Amino acid sequence: MSWEQAWLKYQAVKGYLDEAYFKEVYTLEEGKIIENALAELRLATNKMFGAAIERVNHLPTKGIHLSLVSKECLAKEGFQLEEKNGLIAIMANTQIGLLYGVYELLRRVACKNKMALLSLTRVPDKELRMLNHWDNIDGSIERGYSGDSFFFENKQIVVNERTRDYARLLASVGINATVINNVNVKQEATEFITNTYFESLKKLVELFDSYGIKLFLSLNYAACMELGGLKSADPLDETVIAWWHERMKLVYQELPTLGGFLVKADSEGRPGPFTYGRNQADGANMLAKAIAPYNGIIIWRCFVYNCQQDWRDRTIDRARAAYDYFYELDGAFLDNVILQIKNGPLDFQVREPFMPLFGKLKKTNHIMEVQIAQEYTGQQIDLCYLIPWFKELLDSRTYCGEENDTIKDLLKGKCCNHFGRGIAAVANTGNSENWTGNDLAAANFYGFGRLAWDSELTSEEIAKEWICQTFPDEEEVLDTVSRLLLMSWNTYEKYTAPLGIGFMVTPHYHYGPNIDGYEYSRWGTYHRADHFGIGVDRTKKGTGYASLYYPPLSQMYENVDTCPDELLLFFHHVSYNHILQNKNTVIQHIYDTHFEGVKDVERMIQMWKGLEHKLPSKEFHRVEACFHKQLDNAKEWCDQINSYFYRKSAINDKRGRKIY
Ligand code: GCU
Repeated sequence: MSWEQAWLKYQAVKGYLDEAYFKEVYTLEEGKIIENALAELRLATNKMFGAAIERVNHLPTKGIHLSLVSKECLAKEGFQLEEKNGLIAIMANTQIGLLYGVYELLRRVACKNKMALLSLTRVPDKELRMLNHWDNIDGSIERGYSGDSFFFENKQIVVNERTRDYARLLASVGINATVINNVNVKQEATEFITNTYFESLKKLVELFDSYGIKLFLSLNYAACMELGGLKSADPLDETVIAWWHERMKLVYQELPTLGGFLVKADSEGRPGPFTYGRNQADGANMLAKAIAPYNGIIIWRCFVYNCQQDWRDRTIDRARAAYDYFYELDGAFLDNVILQIKNGPLDFQVREPFMPLFGKLKKTNHIMEVQIAQEYTGQQIDLCYLIPWFKELLDSRTYCGEENDTIKDLLKGKCCNHFGRGIAAVANTGNSENWTGNDLAAANFYGFGRLAWDSELTSEEIAKEWICQTFPDEEEVLDTVSRLLLMSWNTYEKYTAPLGIGFMVTPHYHYGPNIDGYEYSRWGTYHRADHFGIGVDRTKKGTGYASLYYPPLSQMYENVDTCPDELLLFFHHVSYNHILQNKNTVIQHIYDTHFEGVKDVERMIQMWKGLEHKLPSKEFHRVEACFHKQLDNAKEWCDQINSYFYRKSAINDKRGRKIY
């Protein structure tokens, strides 16, 4: 299958700047990473200026100079760009820093940032910037919305030119780690830690290393039983411990630069230490000890909850689960364990409060997990640019008592998380021609990487950078596409589940409405709507979840009058006539936002249509088709939600619109 170049198109920029810089490049460095940096420069200059840059063996009078320096402020991955005496100098402490510098330079040219007086220093503010692919060995993708896997075909690992282009995309935005297989490790994927797959994994590791990307693998916690034939996977059992030590030794003999493993344990049917009466730290530490001699890391997910709960039992709150299991283990994890915590307490809904473990774990390494695969946010059919949402999360204050107390401080290592950790995203790519199905969904892929590198970039800056590199250079295109992206999260929120209640999606598939679909099932995601009201009581009178935050957040959420509207139904059960802070009643707000959401999508389609003659027809029509499906989806949500709550509440829409 053929594929496109996403934001690495390098469109012609003729006549814009002094092309003379891009004729010669000089560096003393050798090796695979430098070769890749030079190859990128050649490709880009060829496409942008019609002539490829040449490597020369002396400092040119005009040109690019890549050199290693020794500057503490640049750390491992930072770089400096400077234009002086006819040279564009790219300086870094490491070759990977130089590669990142080259990508920055090319991005600035593609975005036509003024080159004169160029002088900048960039250092990533998070250490680990990671993608998690949920690709299965049979080529399918769990929650994949853009074709099948390009990592796996017929139970084999594929390493080809597309894999290289994937690595280039990651490096170009500074993503430095990736997990290629699904966290639900089943079938032959368990065998990635055996001879069967070492040869192809070696090729992959070698390729990724040359782009500064650490390969991680998802691990089956019960591999010692499934591969090793042991009777148990008890983390305190000597034979289990010995098996893993042997296994990790073998793995690292073959793949010495492997980053480590990601583990989903005791969750949604996956095996884990609970089976043996042990806790999550026992399980994680057992693996961490086995991998420590090789500097490997165990990334242990906190998405642990009882997915078999009885919906009639109102004492269980899934939202509390991760906190209840992990808070008391703070300090119990070894140094080479990193906990990976979903951004919110439920599961990647369009809106959730942040997970209260952030700010509470003070002695444990941890990173945040977000999802750019739009499982619950329109599945890459509906447009939903998630960067504004991630920005809100990063900017949230935890009130943990330290001076820098936002989540981004924590992910940067400025508070709580003293080692300085990072962020991971469930990836949204597949083998479709344009990588992400909907062309506009690539803005989330790009944007995640950029935000992972620099929490201070704005959603708009990121959107604009991406647009310049993706679409033809026209003011109107830049303006319209960025307005579309920036309104899209809000629009999606309007026509789907209201006021932070979440879910109400078609069970299993998670696209389209089914209001009671999960209400009477085992998954623990309720809305509790009846004739009188709606919402889950998570105050002290209910599940007590609101108290898990530090004050003043705990008080703000606890009190129905101060709880922000957008999260009201997540925290409170209220009547349909309850007055929101925006002065509307809950029911009227539901009607209004749903009608508005549909109108927004209609407007988005008109905006997109206006670009018909400014965009390549293939891209234009691909996106247009998605917008039409989005409109159907929005109408269906609006129709079902409004009818459902009209019939439940028997309260009329004060604007008299058609509700069934
Ligand atoms: C969601 C998703 C699953 C996934 C799980 C996880 O529940 O629907 O497909 O396995 O998250 O994050 O592990």
